[in-house]
Amino acid sequence: MKKIVISTGGGDAPGLNAVIYVIVHACTKRGWEVYGSRSGYNGFLDIDEMVRLMPRDVAGIYAIGGTILGSTNKGNPFSCPVENLAGEVQIVDISDKILRNFNRMKFDCHIAIGGDGSLEIAHRFAQKGMPVIGVPKTIDNDLEVTDRTFGFDTAVSTATEALDKLHSTAKSHDRVMVVEVMGRESGWIALYSGISGGADVILLPEIPFDMENVCDKIADNELHDKHYSIVVVAEGAVPKDGKVFDKGHGELGREEVVLGGVGAWVADEIRKRTGKDTRSLTLGHLQRGGSPTTFDRLLALRFGAAAVRMVEEEIFDHMVALVGSGMAAVPIADAIKNRKKIDLTNDKIATARDIGICLGDNSEVDGILLAGGKK
Ligand code: F6P
Repeated sequence: MKKIVISTGGGDAPGLNAVIYVIVHACTKRGWEVYGSRSGYNGFLDIDEMVRLMPRDVAGIYAIGGTILGSTNKGNPFSCPVENLAGEVQIVDISDKILRNFNRMKFDCHIAIGGDGSLEIAHRFAQKGMPVIGVPKTIDNDLEVTDRTFGFDTAVSTATEALDKLHSTAKSHDRVMVVEVMGRESGWIALYSGISGGADVILLPEIPFDMENVCDKIADNELHDKHYSIVVVAEGAVPKDGKVFDKGHGELGREEVVLGGVGAWVADEIRKRTGKDTRSLTLGHLQRGGSPTTFDRLLALRFGAAAVRMVEEEIFDHMVALVGSGMAAVPIADAIKNRKKIDLTNDKIATARDIGICLGDNSEVDGILLAGGKK
C-alpha cells in the first residue's frame, strides 16, 4: 500500500490531465491511494487544497486541455514572496514546512509534473529527502534529456493551423503577416510550425537575425510574383546586435520575465524598409489551450504510467523521459542543467533552407555549412 501525491506546476500544457488520469488508474490498480495538490504546492500548505483522486474523478479527462489540479508559475517554495502586515514583500523559504506536511500526511512519493522551473524545485525537495519523481511537460520542448515533452505537438498543430489560415488573407491583400509564437529561448515551436505552415521567414532564438536578410527574402518573393509573405517569429528571437524583447517580470513571485514584442517590432521594420502593408499577431496562450493531439495524449499517458512503475522500483529524484522510441528514467538534475536549443545541424534547419525559407542569417554561407557540415 502506497500513498502518492501529484502536483502540476508552471505554465499548463495539453496532456497534463492525461498524466493525472493514468497515474490515478495505475495506482488504484495497485491498491495505492492518490492525492492531488492544487496549484502546485498549495495542498501541502492547506489541507483543503489537497484532494483525494479516484478513477471516477478523472473519467474522460485525458482528452481535455489544462489541469484539473490547477497550476502556477509563481511562488517558488524556496524563495516565496510574502506580504507582511506593513505591506512589505519579504522573500521566505517555506520548503521545510512543505516537507514536514508531506511527511505528516504520510506520502510515499510526490510525482511532480512540470517544466524546468517546477522540476528544479522538485529536485531541491528530493535533495531535502522527499521521494520525488518528475514528469516533463512544456509546450516549449526545451527540456534536456527527453526527446519530447508533451504539449509541444499540440502547440505546433495550433500554430500550423493558424499559419494555414493566414495565407489566404495575406494573399488577398498582398500583405506581410508576422506571427509571434511562444517557446521562450528555444525556437522549436517556430521552426516546426513555420516549416509545416509554409512560412517564408522563420526567426529563431538560436540564430540572431538581420532585418536586411528578412527584407531581401520579401523582395525576392515580389520579384518572383509572390506578393505576400508569412513571417514566423519565436518570442525569444533576437536581432543581430540587439536584445531579447520582454515585458518585465509580470506578477509578484514570477521568476522569469514575460517575453513578447519582437513580432510587432519585426512587422514595423518590414513596413518601414519595404513599404509593404504589414500586420502582426501574437498567437499567445492559444498555443497552450485545447485538447491534446493524439501524439501528446499518448506520450502523456506513457509518461504517467512509466512514472508509476518508477515509484514501484523506487527510482527517486529521476524524471521519466522519451529516449528514442522508449521510456527511460533520467536524473532530474540532468534535465534542468540547460535549456534544450535547436542544434543548427538538425536536418529540419537544412530542410527549411532547402525550401528557401529565410532564417534571418546569411543562409548560403552559415546555413549550408552548418547544416551539411560541408559547403
Ligand atoms: O513555458 C511555457 C510558456 O507558454 C512560454 O512559451 C511562454 O513564454 C510562457 O509560458 C508564458 O507564461 P505565462 O502563462 O505566465 O504568460
